[in-house]
Amino acid sequence: MYLIGYDIGSSSVKAALVDAENGNTLVRTQYPDREMDIQAVRAGWAEQRPDQWWEGIVQATQRLLKAHPIPADSVKAIGISYQMHGLVLVDAAHQVLRPSIIWCDGRAVDIGAAAFERIGQQKALSHLLNSPGNFTASKLRWVQENEPELYQRVKYFMLPGDYIALKMTGEACSTISGLSEGIFWDFLEKKPADLVFQDYNIDPALMPPLQPTFGIQGALRPEAAAELGLSAGIPVAYRAGDQPNNALSLNVLDPGEVAATGGTSGVVYAVTNQAAYDPLSRVNGFAHVNYTLDQPNVGVLMCINGAGITYSWLRQNTGASETSYPALEQLASQIPIGADGVSILPFGNGAERILSNVDLGAQIQGLNFNRHSQGHLIRAGLEGIAFAFVYGMSILQEMGLDLKVMRVGNDNLFQSRIFAETVATLCNSHIEMLDTTGAVGAAKGAGFGAGIYSSLREALGNTPKVGGYEPLPNAEAHTEAYQRWLNQLHKLYNK
Ligand code: XUL
Repeated sequence: MYLIGYDIGSSSVKAALVDAENGNTLVRTQYPDREMDIQAVRAGWAEQRPDQWWEGIVQATQRLLKAHPIPADSVKAIGISYQMHGLVLVDAAHQVLRPSIIWCDGRAVDIGAAAFERIGQQKALSHLLNSPGNFTASKLRWVQENEPELYQRVKYFMLPGDYIALKMTGEACSTISGLSEGIFWDFLEKKPADLVFQDYNIDPALMPPLQPTFGIQGALRPEAAAELGLSAGIPVAYRAGDQPNNALSLNVLDPGEVAATGGTSGVVYAVTNQAAYDPLSRVNGFAHVNYTLDQPNVGVLMCINGAGITYSWLRQNTGASETSYPALEQLASQIPIGADGVSILPFGNGAERILSNVDLGAQIQGLNFNRHSQGHLIRAGLEGIAFAFVYGMSILQEMGLDLKVMRVGNDNLFQSRIFAETVATLCNSHIEMLDTTGAVGAAKGAGFGAGIYSSLREALGNTPKVGGYEPLPNAEAHTEAYQRWLNQLHKLYNK
């Protein structure tokens, strides 16, 4: 008895095959090997064709089944994790009307900012937990304003994962968590957000019917099954945005539990049962996977665009493109904490939500040509990314969130001891590292949705721990370096 999970990112589709009986991961794979294209017709825009994602799913499934051949009818459930905040539009025949406007497309920033003012900041925050910002509702409004003829043909708006589920099952539906990441959910009224539909003049009939996050959302159609090499009738039993899903994969389900990732961008995601928001909307609250009307768990998401990309930029551009990351870590670990006075602000990957959408540009400060070397830059880069995490987490702390346990996967930035120990020391928190991925979590979530597991803790609780980090006993040097970094930030940005 097997489970398949997909994680549809903007750079690739990742897939995992899990043995439902013992929860072991049998295969992890991805497609394509090189990054999937993002079309940027204009500066600041970002689009992908949903058929690029479907192609990734078909190819990744074939890779899974080739690596571990199984009888086609032994897969008992499929789970879907997907890139958040995107917009997919379909007509009455469920045909895609235009390329998807994806999460990092900035065209609707002004539309969202104007709606925040019109609705009233306080009202928007108390109902929506967020400014409409640059999320799906604002992107839909952009289409209404700029492509009116196409807009007339829209039957449903969807998130990327809703579309993939539609392609698999023929059923058009979304979830509360999905609506919330598009800023279509009213947390105060606990229903779809009339104030957004009214302000944007969007007919609520364009919203697909809702299904629970866990449960039988549809069954694999024969045509889709044939393309995937699986049996028709397998239930799609779970879907969620990639950040709530990453939290689920890391068994982060209740208040006090925190998930973090450090890829190109970095995210800290803390669960709370309060309708918490930041008055400046620098962090965002979305319905967590286990949000219900009775138990409204919210995931508060702090995103830093310039995380791993800062490290890969430094590697590429300091003549180290042939040097492995462990070798760079070794080099940087010979430099003292605080990099002998060099500070890097890692904000070079566009407008940062934690800086109220200001695009600061990355900064290197305190460089002395007679004293400093490549190792200093690498150390200051890793510390600078960690300081940005700590700064973002201080917003979560100001909101009164409990950040008791932080769990991370065993990939990307959290493999760097310098980075992870800087975060652990300054936040005085223990970091637990688990051997899992978003696709594995999606497979296990589907196992719960299909009734194979009786609880989420049963589905996820046995995920192997593979390490962790503790705060260092003496935080003095870290605190001093962080304070210097913070002073530099405040010279450029002061909120
Ligand atoms: C989260 C966010 C990104 C996307 C990437 O708010 O914008 O992490 O989900 O896929």
